[in-house]
Amino acid sequence: MPTSKTPKTKTKTSSKHPHPEKNENYDLRTRLIHGSMRTPKWDYSHHVVPPLTSSATFRLSSSQRGARGFFEFACDRVDTTRQVPIYIYDRLDEPTRGMLEENLAAAEQGEIGVCFATGMAAISASIASLTRSGDQVVAHNTLYGCTYSLMTNWLPRQGVNTRFVDMRNAKEIAKAITARTRIVYFETPDRKSVV
Ligand SMILES: Cc1ncc(COP(=O)(O)O)c(C=O)c1O
Repeated sequence: MPTSKTPKTKTKTSSKHPHPEKNENYDLRTRLIHGSMRTPKWDYSHHVVPPLTSSATFRLSSSQRGARGFFEFACDRVDTTRQVPIYIYDRLDEPTRGMLEENLAAAEQGEIGVCFATGMAAISASIASLTRSGDQVVAHNTLYGCTYSLMTNWLPRQGVNTRFVDMRNAKEIAKAITARTRIVYFETPDRKSVV
């Protein structure tokens, strides 16, 4: 909010590092909201440890660039490890998490990595995206409590049922798998071996 001390004209920035938007005729309140977000000081290419981003949304600059960003996000032909992605919104993709996912995939020799905020979010999303009503999960008979609850209380509401077996016995696993089985689920290390 403007106060009696608020200058009536545009704020001056250091002449050594002029504000890149200084010729744009925004008033002080607009500048206070948007800040000095564009600056040549924002070059992270020489950081040894990449800085964390805290942007939830990213500047798209134009509707064309935004459209290209959505297209590239949805298009599996774009290799984002070879070109700077057009970041749109952090739930879709953002550089800090993206680097973590790439490194985890490399460490596990996987094709891609996907990070979630919690373990149960990862487990629920994985199962929900791989199953539909009528499908079946085959799981080991000792599981983390909330995963057991997901499989016995919540997934059945979506028509997805779990058959629990002793996975130390290969014959039991083979017997439990049917044409409706979409996921074979176990934890390593198993709960019993960690208590
Ligand atoms: C085997 C296993 N699965 C899932 C979870 C759930 O993780 P979160 O509490 O991050 O949702 C845990 C948590 O300890 C766990 O040990």
